[in-house]
Amino acid sequence: MDFREACHTLLKANRRHTREGHQYTVPSPSTYPYQWLWDSCFHAIVLAKLEPEAAIAELKALLARQLPDGLVPHMIFWEPKVTRPYHVWWEKGVSSITQPPMIAYAAWQIYQETKDRSFLMELFPGMLRFYRYLIDQRDPHDHHLISIVNPDESGEDNCPRFDVALRVKSSISFFEHMWKRHQLIVANRTCGFDPLTCMHERFWVKDVPFNTMLVKNLESLAQIAELLGDQEAAKFCYLHKEMISFTMREYLMAEGVFWSAIGLEHGHLKVATWAHFIPLFANLYTREEAQALVKNHFYNPATFYSPYGIRTVSKQEPSYRSNGFWRGPIWFAPHWFMYKGLKAYGFDKEAAWIKEVSRGHIDRNGFREYFNPETGKAHGAHNFTWGTLVLDMD
Ligand code: GLC
Repeated sequence: MDFREACHTLLKANRRHTREGHQYTVPSPSTYPYQWLWDSCFHAIVLAKLEPEAAIAELKALLARQLPDGLVPHMIFWEPKVTRPYHVWWEKGVSSITQPPMIAYAAWQIYQETKDRSFLMELFPGMLRFYRYLIDQRDPHDHHLISIVNPDESGEDNCPRFDVALRVKSSISFFEHMWKRHQLIVANRTCGFDPLTCMHERFWVKDVPFNTMLVKNLESLAQIAELLGDQEAAKFCYLHKEMISFTMREYLMAEGVFWSAIGLEHGHLKVATWAHFIPLFANLYTREEAQALVKNHFYNPATFYSPYGIRTVSKQEPSYRSNGFWRGPIWFAPHWFMYKGLKAYGFDKEAAWIKEVSRGHIDRNGFREYFNPETGKAHGAHNFTWGTLVLDMD
């Protein structure tokens, strides 16, 4: 079976249908049997190339459980009977938090393949409400940096960028960390997940990957708005894209790279992670800065570069664990963001290497979740969909 076919077979095998007539893809049938926000966007990006109707259905299902305030939940529990993970559960059949807002980018990719305006017209109002929610509710002081209120909102659940904000030690175990995030959900429940209270009282991070993805997605949403003739919405998206980009450079940059920040005063969270690389995806570095980034960080074996790919956390961090979930291992989604960013800046050789090592993992191990950068050993979920992103490395 060729690679394209293998990707399609996996995505079809992981497809689920709901009683309401929706369809979506589970990231892994055994480990992750629900719908997740950014996972569904990844699925849609890949399905756009394989089966556009399924890509459109995936995004429709995702927006079908949008909350009245505009938040798109990071998880949807379509099957009422399955056991729910305790640390994210909420009463309404969805989780109480969101995840990286990749929906507009995914929708725009589908449009590139299909030139179908009708699905965009259907999805546009919900998408706009989601991005407006992020800008209005997650930036209450008009800092032009959007906040996350739980590490899981980043998609990098136990990443050490959040250790200080979560008040945990760098030596914390996987399960202690999960318990801490559960306690955060329980505490945030008392204020009905009111973002302002959650931020001021418990956890408040202006995260580089989340804001980078928002910038790129606001650009996609602006393009969609223009196509649909909504000039006012296009203006809103371009304006906020510019303001967030400017503020990220102004407040989140130091020593030539971007750092996530905490709280009202946005103090830098100085933990070196792949968050240094993702701003390439939204064109946030100058050409010279990007060159220095690739030379000093991408190619540095003491920090990020390993024979198996780019570590998600620098090897020099005390929190680095080669087998620590989001505390060091190699993941396909970060590789995909890096691939796109490197390509956009003309780093073709580096992008080709990312693609090659990513493919290598699949050829050796099948579709697994994450990989030890020191040994190449595969870990985590089986039949995990993120490897299909390699198909979009073109
Ligand atoms: C893990 C990942 C998260 C992903 C989810 C489903 O929790 O950390 O990013 O969305 O699994 O694949």
